[in-house]
Amino acid sequence: MLISGRGSNLQALITACSAPNFPAEIVLVVSNRGDAPGLERAGRAGIPTRVIAHRDFASRDAFDAALDQALTDARIELVCLAGFMRILGPAFIAAWHDKLINIHPSLLPQFPGLDTHARALAAGVKRHGCTVHFVRAEVDNGPIIVQGSVPVLPGDDADKLAARVLAVEHRAYPLALRLIAEGRVRVLPDHIEIDGRPGPVRLDVAA
Ligand code: GAR
Repeated sequence: MLISGRGSNLQALITACSAPNFPAEIVLVVSNRGDAPGLERAGRAGIPTRVIAHRDFASRDAFDAALDQALTDARIELVCLAGFMRILGPAFIAAWHDKLINIHPSLLPQFPGLDTHARALAAGVKRHGCTVHFVRAEVDNGPIIVQGSVPVLPGDDADKLAARVLAVEHRAYPLALRLIAEGRVRVLPDHIEIDGRPGPVRLDVAA
């Protein structure tokens, strides 16, 4: 798993993976920041951690190559980005094609990029949420595995909405990981199939 900060999605996956029948295991947590609180969550769960600080590298390619080496050495089968706030270059993304997933705090294709909750409020959408998707070279793009949605409520500000979305993120990411690890996801050029039926899976929370 690649993280940059708080690591609450990492925690949701740690918790999910600790269930006896969960079909995946977290082998390594890498952060590009040494002060990411998520590193402590991994440490508490007994998961090996590494800090690969982007600032230590002269170029994006050199940073990406160090990441790639760490993941390859650890025999990683699937890379989960969870609040990883660095853009990965095309060579890294190509090397991990269909083995690299991300969680983004909006219902893509709406609101790619940053400040998604404030932008959702400004746009006046009725529902907002999160997307777990395979990563492609274009940022916040790629076949969608799971989308979790929540209502936008009167009186919401960006923080209240973010907290509601985060709760559904913590359900959507473990679900997506489970589906992939169980071999139920087939990736097609612009969408996925789950058990042979068109995806994505939708988790629509009432309130
Ligand atoms: C989450 O809301 C995640 O969706 C978002 O960062 C937060 C990380 O929280 N990711 C992005 O914005 C990616 N561009 P966490 O560290 O507590 O999981």
